[in-house]
Amino acid sequence: MERTLSIVKPDGVARGLIGEVVKRLEANDLKIAAMKMIHMTRSQAEGFYAVHKERPFFGSLTEFMSSGPCVVMVLEGENAIARYRELMGATNYKEADPGTIRADFATDIEKNVVHGSDAPETAAFEMGYFFNSFEIVG
Ligand code: CMP
Repeated sequence: MERTLSIVKPDGVARGLIGEVVKRLEANDLKIAAMKMIHMTRSQAEGFYAVHKERPFFGSLTEFMSSGPCVVMVLEGENAIARYRELMGATNYKEADPGTIRADFATDIEKNVVHGSDAPETAAFEMGYFFNSFEIVG
């Protein structure tokens, strides 16, 4: 069993895509072990994406991620990190495989509907950023 962090980003929440994302997670055997809605401040978004702080898109990304509510989830399942990344599709929706969340719904490389951890170490940091151990079921 592996755990990963999932975010339905502000564009996904604003466009009414929470249910669509959750439906795909459940249909693909990714169990929701924790879930809540948050609205990050700019500095909370900067802390979450600190790994990208030298990137040219950091300012725009953290402005976008703090522009409205997000749904953050811990997903659990066998090979959850890779399986959730497959469901999301490539970061750039133009390169995402057909049928993935980003291919179906993203409108922009930044407004790409969902986020998912890319490795066990980042998953541990990202889950701990939003949830304490009492909030994760299972
Ligand atoms: P995410 O998987 O949340 O990780 C970093 C985010 O930065 C990414 O999704 C996009 O929303 C955003 N982003 C914006 N521009 C780029 C870019 N050129 N390359 C990668 N990520 C980008």
